[in-house]
Amino acid sequence: MMLMNKVALITGASRGIGKEIALKFAQNGAHIIFFYKNNAALAHGTAKEIQKLGRKVLPIQVDVSDYASVSEAREIIRRHFDGIDILVNNAGLFQDSLFVNMSQEQWNTVIHVNLTGTFHCTRIFVDELFQSRGGGCVINMASIAGIYGNIGQTNYSASKSGIIGFTKALAKEVASKNIRVNAIAPGFIETGIWDGLPDHILEKALKKIALKRVGTAADVANVALFLASDYAGYITGQVIDVDGGIGLSVL
Ligand SMILES: NC(=O)c1ccc[n+]([C@@H]2O[C@H](COP(=O)([O-])OP(=O)(O)OC[C@H]3O[C@@H](n4cnc5c(N)ncnc54)[C@H](OP(=O)(O)O)[C@@H]3O)[C@@H](O)[C@H]2O)c1
Repeated sequence: MMLMNKVALITGASRGIGKEIALKFAQNGAHIIFFYKNNAALAHGTAKEIQKLGRKVLPIQVDVSDYASVSEAREIIRRHFDGIDILVNNAGLFQDSLFVNMSQEQWNTVIHVNLTGTFHCTRIFVDELFQSRGGGCVINMASIAGIYGNIGQTNYSASKSGIIGFTKALAKEVASKNIRVNAIAPGFIETGIWDGLPDHILEKALKKIALKRVGTAADVANVALFLASDYAGYITGQVIDVDGGIGLSVL
């Protein structure tokens, strides 16, 4: 049990990578608070799965892009838990468009959810993390698009690059309070987030993946578990690519 009795807050865990992280953490002894935005039915299904593992669980409907919504969640959480040890800023979305067609709304939505949402949650829960017995931990979900850039994703790539800069700067600021801050940069992970993406884009990506398969949410959750655990106790300010080696495809 790598996270026995730790309290973890995971944003965007009704489905996909966030859900897998929530289940993995719960299997390893953590109590789970998680945020979702729209899918109450899915969120309650996830909560039931966590409950079956014998851990406490608190799903809350929150829009991470709205500071007031995250603040209200903090008040709810304080009624149920003494503190938080682990924050995973995972909630995210994309709204792709070639830059010449990109609307201000597409730009703002993606930046507000992915980047500003990460700021809101970290800013509002940093005091809880400061009080964590044994040291707090923040894990931010970046993307390889934030490292290499991706056509049609200037907004998404900018939001994820921003998360990487945020991770490194915050790691320096809070290290003296025994908080570690790291990021994960997934490649192509099968979750449903790419529903609607043309097949030829996925086929092109697959050719570049050294391991010749797309990733699973479990591939990412395993790395999140490691980063949240004492095994990563001397790691901070780092970005770990979970991309099957797509980043090696330059040569
Ligand atoms: N899948 C990939 O290939 C991939 C690659 C690189 C990086 N990532 C990153 O990994 C993270 C998770 O991706 P995923 O594929 O698991 O996505 P997903 O399956 O689409 O799930 C997204 C989750 O975020 C929640 N969410 C969306 N907007 C929100 C908001 N404003 N406030 C609160 N929650 C919100 C959703 O809640 P509802 O269910 O209620 O809508 C859902 O739980 C994202 O940050 C994504 O950018 C994914």
